[in-house]
Amino acid sequence: MPEYYIGLISGTSIDAIDTVLIGMKGDGKPEIISSLASPIEESIRVPLHALIKQGADATLGQLSKLDVMLGRLFAGAVQQLLKQAGLTGPQIKAIGSHGQTVFHQPEGGTPTSIQIGDPNLIAEITGITTVADFRRRDMAAGGQGAPMVPAFHQAVFHSDSEDRVVVNIGGIANITVLPKGGNQPVTGFDTGPGNTLMDLWTLKFLNQTMDRDGQFAEKGVVNNELLEQLLADNYFSRPAPKSTGREYFNLSWLLKNFGPTKTRPEDTQATLCELTAVSVMQAIKKSAPDTQRILVCGGGSHNPLLMSRMHKLGGDIIFDNTSMAGIDPDWVEAAAFAWLACKTLEGNSGNLPSVTGARSECVLGGIYQAGL
Ligand SMILES: Nc1ncnc2c1ncn2[C@@H]1O[C@H](COP(=O)(O)OP(=O)(O)O)[C@@H](O)[C@H]1O
Ligand SMILES: [Mg+2]
Repeated sequence: MPEYYIGLISGTSIDAIDTVLIGMKGDGKPEIISSLASPIEESIRVPLHALIKQGADATLGQLSKLDVMLGRLFAGAVQQLLKQAGLTGPQIKAIGSHGQTVFHQPEGGTPTSIQIGDPNLIAEITGITTVADFRRRDMAAGGQGAPMVPAFHQAVFHSDSEDRVVVNIGGIANITVLPKGGNQPVTGFDTGPGNTLMDLWTLKFLNQTMDRDGQFAEKGVVNNELLEQLLADNYFSRPAPKSTGREYFNLSWLLKNFGPTKTRPEDTQATLCELTAVSVMQAIKKSAPDTQRILVCGGGSHNPLLMSRMHKLGGDIIFDNTSMAGIDPDWVEAAAFAWLACKTLEGNSGNLPSVTGARSECVLGGIYQAGL
């Protein structure tokens, strides 16, 4: 019998709560048994966007209210998943809840990262032990607190015979470099924007939450002058470890970079799609020049224009998604947090210092025990 864990995440895109049930087999490999994407209704999405936009100026009232609302919503998503899978709370070893990032500031004198969705509520409502707050222990050890998924990528996507890179395209894009064999360290970092700028631009001009299938971008042409201007941001050339978020890559960042450039909205959209493709592929070429295969996951893997541009820019690199290694690209991140909860309960570390820059490996997160 596998041991069951549940992973919960609401990413930077705020498109949905992703909930997955994994079974951990004896070999330490996870298998996805059931999954669920619960849309985040407008009554939470709108104040959440407002909170994130305000960043350091948000009020404690806004923050604590959304912490409770999201905690309840996460617990409800778990209950729905259990029903779908025909399991009950006591059959689940633990939930790994990433939460919703509302503030991520890894640099400077007071580095911090805040994820909300109160784990006390999740544990109390579901009756399942909940592990949460995964990032801050790594930060306490001097790390970026991100990306946190590379240890999981290593466990499931590593190959003995080929050099691989996993590319996760959520709101922000991150890469995990997996050299073949087991001798070289795994590296990885946030490369910059994934879908977030494309989403924001589509919302502004079409009032839609995403550029479905890249249709808006397809109508435009890339403005090379604007692209160069955007790529000149020093985040892209900065060495790792590095991580970023919507606090940095947002509409203000984009508008600030326009300068005198005039473009049609669809040309800007095409340029933003190209920005994601070029910044990810440049990061791979620079930090992992021997890459033989790319495995893509995250919502951006559904954008055919983005995928075809990355594929083209990759030249001879074999281009795949994570399904080829057994995990559906939509569920990789949530599965990673279920897996990390397992690591924490076992007393094993979940961060990779070679990725985050932490001084040491750490057992991540706080444990909120199931009721008595
Ligand atoms: N069919 C599609 N066409 C274009 N973009 C898509 C499509 N499906 C998903 N996406 C993009 O993926 C995003 C969600 O990706 P996800 O991996 O869930 O990100 P996050 O981890 O930030 O929540 C959406 O906001 C959207 O930009
Ligand atoms: Mg999402």
